[in-house]
Amino acid sequence: MADGVALVATAMNGIVVGEVHASSSGLFCFSHVLTDVTVAVDPDYRRQGIARSLFESFFAEIAKRLPHISRVELISRESNTAAIHFYEQLGFVREGRLEGRIKNMDGSFEADIPMGWNRTSPTR
Ligand SMILES: CC(C)(COP(=O)(O)OP(=O)(O)OC[C@H]1O[C@@H](n2cnc3c(N)ncnc32)[C@H](O)[C@@H]1OP(=O)(O)O)[C@@H](O)C(=O)NCCC(=O)NCCS
Repeated sequence: MADGVALVATAMNGIVVGEVHASSSGLFCFSHVLTDVTVAVDPDYRRQGIARSLFESFFAEIAKRLPHISRVELISRESNTAAIHFYEQLGFVREGRLEGRIKNMDGSFEADIPMGWNRTSPTR
């Protein structure tokens, strides 16, 4: 992906068991930003470190191929406490609370939590 990052994790048999991707808007004012980070791991393969490994590769790819990226952002529903805790471990910080943004299958609403990772010394 020329203007973003997309990585997959595969099992020994070659099937895809995890994925992470993020994109750039293409606008100059956001040219240092990767947005809409999304990660998912096959339920049968969770709690084995796959998401952590994907993010290690994700940030390595940014450092190697996209050194101008100094900000990465995502949004996670508030009830996804495991994911939010994981993102905090990776250096993402909660940047607010979007009240009622998510509509659940039962018709209830919950907040979405915007999170950002900022490189302390951006490459210019
Ligand atoms: C969130 C998700 C990507 C984690 O994938 P994973 O491969 O199981 O994660 P890892 O094994 O690499 O664990 C990374 C960390 O996430 C946290 N974590 C993951 N699953 C967790 C759970 N069920 N309960 C508590 N913490 C959890 C832990 O902090 C863990 O670190 P640790 O094992 O050192 O304690 C996976 O559960 C998933 O695909 N969920 C559905 C999609 C989703 O919610 N994506 C995020 C949308 S914002």
